[in-house]
Amino acid sequence: MKAKIAVLAGDGVGREIVPEAVKVLKAVAERYGHAFEFIAGDIGGQAIEKMGVPLPQETLILAKQSDAVLLGAVGGPKWEGLPYGLRPERALLGLREQLGLFANLRPAKLYPMLAEASTLKREVIEGIDLLVVRELTGGIYFGKPKGIETIPGGERGVNTEVYTTGEIARIAKVAFEAARKRRKKVTSVDKANVLESSELWRRVVTEVHRAYPDVELTHMYVDNCAMQLIRNPKQFDVLLCNNLFGDILSDEAAMLTGSIGMLPSASLGAHAGLYEPIHGSAPDIAGKNIANPIATIASAAMMLSYTFNLGKEADAIEQAIVKTLDLGYRTKDIAAPGTRIVGTTEMGDAIVRNLR
Ligand code: IPM
Ligand code: MG
Repeated sequence: MKAKIAVLAGDGVGREIVPEAVKVLKAVAERYGHAFEFIAGDIGGQAIEKMGVPLPQETLILAKQSDAVLLGAVGGPKWEGLPYGLRPERALLGLREQLGLFANLRPAKLYPMLAEASTLKREVIEGIDLLVVRELTGGIYFGKPKGIETIPGGERGVNTEVYTTGEIARIAKVAFEAARKRRKKVTSVDKANVLESSELWRRVVTEVHRAYPDVELTHMYVDNCAMQLIRNPKQFDVLLCNNLFGDILSDEAAMLTGSIGMLPSASLGAHAGLYEPIHGSAPDIAGKNIANPIATIASAAMMLSYTFNLGKEADAIEQAIVKTLDLGYRTKDIAAPGTRIVGTTEMGDAIVRNLR
């Protein structure tokens, strides 16, 4: 197979973890006889420095013309004071919007040998395997009106949570379809006891569910869900969330698995799929060769499986990760007594070595 992959490393640890994932993809291509072409693009703070904007037109065109996008992370303290429209994070939102990436899949699975790395008790987290399906191009992230305006005696900040029937229905379908390939349970998260947009969300999800009688649907308020994720995470299979709730709950779900450095994601929609770790640019540990590249490498595996339909190759990466962890290799964030602490590049090398 021939494929063109846009590589947007971005800021902070993004610049260290993305090369590791590319290394793994190159090894897969070689081993399985594929031709992947990697084309680097600028994004985030790094693009601001170089071209004055977080999402240059060239990058957008590159992403649109590629078969898939591999992204690292954007943002950092240096750009925090900028107006919202110019911040690195805008690049990510712009890409999601421009590529129509409305469906964000964030699987949270516990690698058994990492149970000790979690802050939760082993018996609570053992066996968790859930998928957050997050709506990614709507809700309060994009709703209008938005902004900060001056009013007598101060200012007024506004954002709008808004969802249409169509937006809810299409993400609900993604969740039900995903559940069919898993344990056939969808928990739809909302705040329907307070918010009208959630009331509509619940109604539309219930309606879409009628075409999926084989899938079990439960509705759960977001505050209760945040609690249940810590109390008994094993009850969840697919969590269907709006943009904001999905952002928050996926960080929580990530931490159940021990480290946010382990969780990959896929963003799918009309154009090329985008694959990125769910963590950010981690400026505090950037440039030290200590960041965990596994989330990004696992994101590359999701790319092979979702965009290229290369299930065997994706499994090979998954198994290489498991084998490397089994052999005791750990980056600092997942270290435990008796394991071997390695840096970002050594972890990448070890995974390449363990690729069958
Ligand atoms: C995420 C991140 C982004 C989001 C930020 C960086 C804009 O937190 O992908 O979860 O809020 O969606
Ligand atoms: Mg987030």
